[in-house]
Amino acid sequence: MNEHEALVEEAVRERRTVLLVGGLDTGKSTLARALLQAALAAGRACAFLDADVGQKTVGPPATVTLKMLRGPEDLEPDVLARQDALWFVGSTSPEGHLLQVVSAVARLYAMARERGADLVVVDTSGLISGVHGQVLKYHKVELLQPDLVVGLQRGEELLPLLGVIQRFFATQVVPLGVPPGVVPTSVERRAENRERAMARYFGEELHRFRVKPTVFMPALPPLFDLGQLDRLLVGLSDGAGGYLGLGYLEHLPEEGSLRLITPVAAGPKALRLGSVRLENGYRAKRVDLRSLFGSG
Ligand SMILES: Nc1ncnc2c1ncn2[C@@H]1O[C@H](COP(=O)(O)OP(=O)(O)OP(=O)(O)O)[C@@H](O)[C@H]1O
Ligand SMILES: [Mg+2]
Repeated sequence: MNEHEALVEEAVRERRTVLLVGGLDTGKSTLARALLQAALAAGRACAFLDADVGQKTVGPPATVTLKMLRGPEDLEPDVLARQDALWFVGSTSPEGHLLQVVSAVARLYAMARERGADLVVVDTSGLISGVHGQVLKYHKVELLQPDLVVGLQRGEELLPLLGVIQRFFATQVVPLGVPPGVVPTSVERRAENRERAMARYFGEELHRFRVKPTVFMPALPPLFDLGQLDRLLVGLSDGAGGYLGLGYLEHLPEEGSLRLITPVAAGPKALRLGSVRLENGYRAKRVDLRSLFGSG
């Protein structure tokens, strides 16, 4: 038995919350699935909380997503890709959106428990270094209080972060190496993966809703040119603090109005503005809302 298999064996028996951390292409998502497969076989009620907003296993980019697992068939990639719930973040990378990511993780983690999960496995983005990486992971641990943190590392790259977690929290921390056979994904391939996942989300029948300019969070400044919101990604609020799904805006210049395009059939109560524009199909291009609003 190698170190990964031994960890899986041990974790599936009694752990309640397992947080996986590691840089890009370190095998986090694959290990998450292996853990869940073993836990399901052991008869446990499991949930996959996908806190990576870029390279998604569950649901579309720019969101944190939850999949409740009923059986091993739910771990098939195409089934796993369909989320049970999503929380809007609005960016395909956590930089500049740490608050939105942590808040989304908190809400979906609570939802996983409410829906009966006994084991929640949390997959995360590859942002592990620098101030942002450390702050993000620190606060995820602070709020999730995992009983196991697994760090997948090349060399000793995770030691600063794992050291912080070890000093501040009473969780078990297990550093592992990157499994041989893990192949790096190019920057271009990552962009393609994000585009494909977004296109899949929008690949169903689309609905159109007229949008009043007063429904946005953050609120639009006075005299704002609505044309600047064309193809901006938005989160559809259910009016009860949660999200119905994603959509994007379309500007109709001749009418001077906005339309929402979304696969969600129910009309939303309000819209969160994202920080990406969907260009050339569903490729996400970063937008800085503060400079768009001229508010700094
Ligand atoms: N134990 C393993 N043996 C062989 N190949 C693996 C193993 N674990 C992962 N891989 C392969 O390596 C690639 C990256 O793995 P994975 O997606 O799990 O990593 P990740 O850390 O989640 O990456 P990302 O940074 O994109 O989220 C995938 O193609 C996967 O199939
Ligand atoms: Mg991954």
